[in-house]
Amino acid sequence: MNDQSFLLGDADDRTGPPPHSQGGRPMTNRKNKRFRRGVSNRATGSALVAHTDGSLPVSLATNTPLLDEWDTLPLAPADVQRQFLPGSPLVNYFRRDPGAKAFDLLRTRLLQALRAHGWGRIAIASPTEGCGTTFTAINLAQSLARIPGSRTVLMDLNHRNPGIAATLNMQGVGDMRGFLAGNVPMEQHLVRASKTLGLGLISAPDDAAAEILHDARSGETLDLMTQSLRPDVVIYDLPPILEYDDLAAFLPHVDGVLMVADGTRTTAKHIAACERTLKGQSQLLGIILNRARTAGGEDADA
Ligand SMILES: Nc1ncnc2c1ncn2[C@@H]1O[C@H](COP(=O)(O)OP(=O)(O)OP(=O)(O)O)[C@@H](O)[C@H]1O
Ligand SMILES: [Mg+2]
Repeated sequence: MNDQSFLLGDADDRTGPPPHSQGGRPMTNRKNKRFRRGVSNRATGSALVAHTDGSLPVSLATNTPLLDEWDTLPLAPADVQRQFLPGSPLVNYFRRDPGAKAFDLLRTRLLQALRAHGWGRIAIASPTEGCGTTFTAINLAQSLARIPGSRTVLMDLNHRNPGIAATLNMQGVGDMRGFLAGNVPMEQHLVRASKTLGLGLISAPDDAAAEILHDARSGETLDLMTQSLRPDVVIYDLPPILEYDDLAAFLPHVDGVLMVADGTRTTAKHIAACERTLKGQSQLLGIILNRARTAGGEDADA
């Protein structure tokens, strides 16, 4: 059985502030404060929304509060929802796997880091393809979504090889390109797999993958999404770091990156190259070692 272990570095150990911070400190530092609902909109400085008293975002265009739209998102078909219920095959598959415990541990460590800094937008990416980015993103989202009353949004942004819809048996669902371009309303694009988990899917590979994440409208749309849904955590499943420049284009829109390394193929050179890509652009929140094995070739315990 494959195994999942991880190394989660303390974000405080990283040098330099994130690029969207002011004066060397995060614009919103909630250290030692209770995590407040909602991911902030610090990345782009979008003029579309603003907070009045820190509770509800308001539209700068109309000066009216943006409604909390979480409950308006449609629920996924019953067979998809069942995959997220206790006792479901998907959950049970992963819960039998020692890796499930590692994901819960990763969730705890990640939430501690996010709460300490008031962060909530996480990119998950690997150095090269097939390392387990989608596997990790879905499992981490599932783990986060098991927290009662929480809100997690899982977004597939790997337009070249989208994987979340197929994994969840939702083939053909999700016009992510239309949504990011502002042509498809959020409530027609996102679905809730459970009360605590929203999904943004890609139905099929897209030839325009290279342009989509470079388009400023994509970032604005995602910022608006976080303003109106007020999720605790947004997880973005991104393409391989070293094979495309999509991640670099998207970095301004996330608070940090979780890198998935494949114990059977990722090398130290790969990781160093990824760190160079991220340097000065975003926080490397941690490196998850997927498919870890012991020196004897056996799967390691989580
Ligand atoms: N630890 C693991 N245990 C069991 N199966 C795994 C594990 N990691 C990955 N897999 C399986 O390996 C395959 C590739 O994983 P995944 O799709 O997550 O890779 P990826 O990094 O998202 O690939 P791509 O770069 O093409 O998007 C999938 O079938 C996935 O379910
Ligand atoms: Mg993938």
